[in-house]
Amino acid sequence: MGADNESRGALVVFEGLDRSGKTSQCGRLVSYLEGLGHSVELWRFPDRTTSVGQMISAYLTNNSQLDDRTIHLLFSANRWEKRSLMETKLKAGTTLIVDRYSYSGVAFSSAKGLDFEWCKAPEIGLIAPDLVVYLDIVPEKAAERGGYGGERYEQLEFQRKVAQRYKLLEDSSWKIVDACQPLEDVEKQVKEIVLEHVMTCQRGKPVSSLWS
Ligand code: TMP
Repeated sequence: MGADNESRGALVVFEGLDRSGKTSQCGRLVSYLEGLGHSVELWRFPDRTTSVGQMISAYLTNNSQLDDRTIHLLFSANRWEKRSLMETKLKAGTTLIVDRYSYSGVAFSSAKGLDFEWCKAPEIGLIAPDLVVYLDIVPEKAAERGGYGGERYEQLEFQRKVAQRYKLLEDSSWKIVDACQPLEDVEKQVKEIVLEHVMTCQRGKPVSSLWS
């Protein structure tokens, strides 16, 4: 996909259980990088603004019922519909901080009992993250954090299964950060790790494809 050695933005993905602190860490990180003068955008999946995203949102808020495989493919389609924009942004030098990506797709769907490899298949060929920050928290601790918001997957027993599935997805692009530490400590570690990867991409690391 990219033999070019041109400077580009980094694709940084945050993953973790519900209530692991991804959303606040992503927000803080974006402000930090902007402050350093980097071109950076905050993205999230599901992207509920598209028509596919609205179907996903209705499902998550229990306003519609969908077969497990159908919703899995919709989550995947929601990433595919943003793929070319993602590549354009990265090549134009913008770093993307992304709250959830394909790993959520596989971890959550396979936790329902769907075959792990089947869940991975539709994600193959999406852009591979340069870095995955996994905010590691035991499900019981996450559940204690201000309670779940009541969306479909926000139940302790299910989150335990998701945590097990996430472990099977870890690869060399992952950095595990202990999310039980005070917020500021997590933030400090996240900034250091991410900045290093932003610099590597600026020096010209080719864009590559996920799981292929
Ligand atoms: P959010 O709370 O980060 O908006 O995510 C909504 C829920 O959707 C969350 O419980 C994780 C789940 N999810 C999937 O099941 N598959 C996916 O591909 C993604 C991105 C999220």
